[in-house]
Amino acid sequence: MWADYDMACAVSHKMVHAVLRDRRLGRECPPELAPEIPAHLQPFYDVEAHSMLELEAPRHTRLRALVLRAFTSRTIAALAPDIRALCHDLIDQFPDEPFDLLAHYAQPVPVVIISRLLGVPEERADDLLRWSNAMVAMYQARRTAEIEADAIAATDAFVAFMRDYVALRRKTPGDDLISTLIAAEADGQKLSEDELITTCILLLNAGHEATVHTLGNGTKALLEHGASQITDAAVEEIIRYDPPLHMFTRWVYEDVTFGDHSFRRGDQIACLLAAANRDPLAYDQPEVFDPARKGPQNTSFGGGIHFCVGAPLARLELQIALEVLFERCPNLRLAETPQYGDVYHFHGLERLLVSTSNQA
Ligand code: HEM
Repeated sequence: MWADYDMACAVSHKMVHAVLRDRRLGRECPPELAPEIPAHLQPFYDVEAHSMLELEAPRHTRLRALVLRAFTSRTIAALAPDIRALCHDLIDQFPDEPFDLLAHYAQPVPVVIISRLLGVPEERADDLLRWSNAMVAMYQARRTAEIEADAIAATDAFVAFMRDYVALRRKTPGDDLISTLIAAEADGQKLSEDELITTCILLLNAGHEATVHTLGNGTKALLEHGASQITDAAVEEIIRYDPPLHMFTRWVYEDVTFGDHSFRRGDQIACLLAAANRDPLAYDQPEVFDPARKGPQNTSFGGGIHFCVGAPLARLELQIALEVLFERCPNLRLAETPQYGDVYHFHGLERLLVSTSNQA
């Protein structure tokens, strides 16, 4: 039990795995418990209402299947040369040192790539980043009137931008995800315009911030441990060791028992993904950062029907971005001890001040 939340918590690898996969639980709030939405926040929740992340079957199944159709492993793998070229370009433009690697590398890589994948103009990447940050801030524990006002303004701007952009792509389809989703809509798959817009916003929002922080946390871990070989195992260890998202909750839909605990419809259970990743029954010496570690799959991308759609893309971005960074900057080092941001919804660094030159 987590007293502050008054909520039961799954913390072991086995229990988190079990809770995330149990179909008697889900992310969608039972209708009888749905909170009243204040009128001024309605635009934000209108967008959320079509988000696959907030839905269960059958709408979740349909929306997710459409996205997966456009998000094939072939499409993702084909992005590799583009990601590599972008990383080199960003390194060519590194400013005078010391500088913040988050702002100059970890942030642009996922934002530019998800914008390209969706077919959104890259010159709008800064707007997307701003809107997205303002919207995601709604998940904070300490929500102020200002955070809410910013989130609503960002939602309105984001929706207006997407509506225009979808209209443009309807007229002139491109070789991008939005055009693929529009084609699916035309196929009679019944992806409504609102669903299409929410799906694009979800992909843009979910598609960068977690990756930004994993890149930041991962670079920090590698530098602190003197590791620079970016193997598949090292990428998995980065994702296990210091994940950007720690907790997701599930609603209970029918009476269910886990271990000694019984739950009824309407209860909530928290899944501590980061704790499951440090479970000594699942991993040897879980507190140790071991880039060669073997072990069960980490829980950082969740599990069950909501398992992260972007996991293959995030893994590819991490692999290439870290490989190119350590190859091009063999003297990369921390210029100060990095601090984690005091925010609720992401576990990530405030900034990552580094130097890349030969040490004097
Ligand atoms: C290291 C980076 C990332 C991490 C740690 C991460 C983590 C997660 C987790 C834990 C969930 C499941 C939440 C739950 O079960 O309640 C999730 C879902 C999702 N993620 Fe990611 N994510 C990352 C990157 C991405 C990227 C790059 C994209 C898109 C391109 C993306 C798109 C999504 C979507 C659309 C969902 C909802 C899936 C569904 O509800 O069926 N994520 N992510």
